[in-house]
Amino acid sequence: MAEERLKFNLDEADIPAAWVNLMADLPGEALPPLDPRSKQPAEPASLSPIFPLGLIQQEVSPEPEIEIPGPVRDAYRLWRPTPLYRARRLEQELGTPAHIYYKYEGVSPPGSHKPNTAVAQVYENAAAGIKKLTTETGAGQWGSALAFACRLFGLECEVWMVGSSYDQKPYRRSMMEVWGATVHRSPSDRTEAGRSQREHTTGSLGIAISEAVEVAAQNADTNYSLGSVLNHVLLHQTVIGQEAIAQLQLAGEEPDMVIGCVGGGSNFAGLAIPFLRRVIREGIGMRFIAAEPAACPTLTRGVYAYDFGDTVGLTPLMPMYTLGHDFVPPPVHAGGLRYHGDSPLVCGLVRQGLVEPRAYRQNETFEAAVQFARAEGIIPAPEPAHAIRAVIDEADAAREAGEERVILFGLCGHGHFDLSAYDAYLAGQLEDPEFSEADMDAALARLPEAPALA
Ligand SMILES: Cc1ncc(COP(=O)(O)O)c(C=O)c1O
Repeated sequence: MAEERLKFNLDEADIPAAWVNLMADLPGEALPPLDPRSKQPAEPASLSPIFPLGLIQQEVSPEPEIEIPGPVRDAYRLWRPTPLYRARRLEQELGTPAHIYYKYEGVSPPGSHKPNTAVAQVYENAAAGIKKLTTETGAGQWGSALAFACRLFGLECEVWMVGSSYDQKPYRRSMMEVWGATVHRSPSDRTEAGRSQREHTTGSLGIAISEAVEVAAQNADTNYSLGSVLNHVLLHQTVIGQEAIAQLQLAGEEPDMVIGCVGGGSNFAGLAIPFLRRVIREGIGMRFIAAEPAACPTLTRGVYAYDFGDTVGLTPLMPMYTLGHDFVPPPVHAGGLRYHGDSPLVCGLVRQGLVEPRAYRQNETFEAAVQFARAEGIIPAPEPAHAIRAVIDEADAAREAGEERVILFGLCGHGHFDLSAYDAYLAGQLEDPEFSEADMDAALARLPEAPALA
């Protein structure tokens, strides 16, 4: 074992020069977002009160690749390329013939994949003369990534943090403040959206998004920044998969399956898209598994329909699997996965059968995360614990089939600020809330009127 390689590292010069835009390779026209009032396709320009032109152009770009601006690539050098590991100790413990690889994004200063898009978004806003960005954050990973990126490019940052995470993860707030951001518990009294949702004391990503969008829309020098869901966010994350392809070449392997957790879809898509492009272009066989919480099972139980991206209904309507824009998921510790919808791009891939979604309960994900930490050392964030559950299940299946399958998964963040969740798991005090039929019926009744999706 001592002789066998564990890490596959690249040089700074190997940081990708361009992002991969899968929209260019997908067959047919993408379904457009709709204007929330007219229900007609939303003009890209309608996004200009809250997004800079550079990001709007990336959002609708037909180009297969988009060059990464020099200052963004320079910022990436602070933590990229990230390592690819072979999980040999976990393989040994599971007694599986599977080869398990993980791409670890927890080495970034905020501790997750989120700064891959944060620095790109802040750069475009700074270039457009914007002085301040507002945003929401679930687990605190996105808020801390944006706070860090705003500091790099000299912008102010104001964050609405989902109430349950604000209470569960106080040190994430401290991190954001160290980087100079202002943080509010959501729902807050500072916005109309927050005041209208006061009774939902644990908050939700949908409510926090409404608060941040409201403030950005009212101030000319302020824009809003979203940490997932939109095409340009997924685009920025494709540095992950491009590096992974180069690293697996060093290992002399090709994955049979690629696995990631899905909240809004960005880390999963960032890892999967460069591989998916090869599947689409070259027709090679590869499976893609998207893991989500049973408490917020958007891809496995949601309806495919046009819905708002936020709770109050300020955003365009997007075609996606949704649990209803005002669904408030139970306060599970994977705060980054508590979102009622998902990226339209990822939803489209699920609909086409290219991506298999799976839902897991909280305790089984922490069981997998603890098993992983005890074998490999790294303590995962509760979000990628969902991916690890799927990996262990697939490694067991490979053992039963007696096949040497190659599994690649995204370990998109560390869990150093999630230790109270591990405490609760180890003490046997974690709950396993599940989405019910009654929740689904209620959600369906509240969907906005919009053209039905085939
Ligand atoms: C560590 C981590 N993983 C995953 C997610 C889910 O987001 P996405 O699906 O966009 O990767 C989040 C969101 O905050 C997160 O912090």
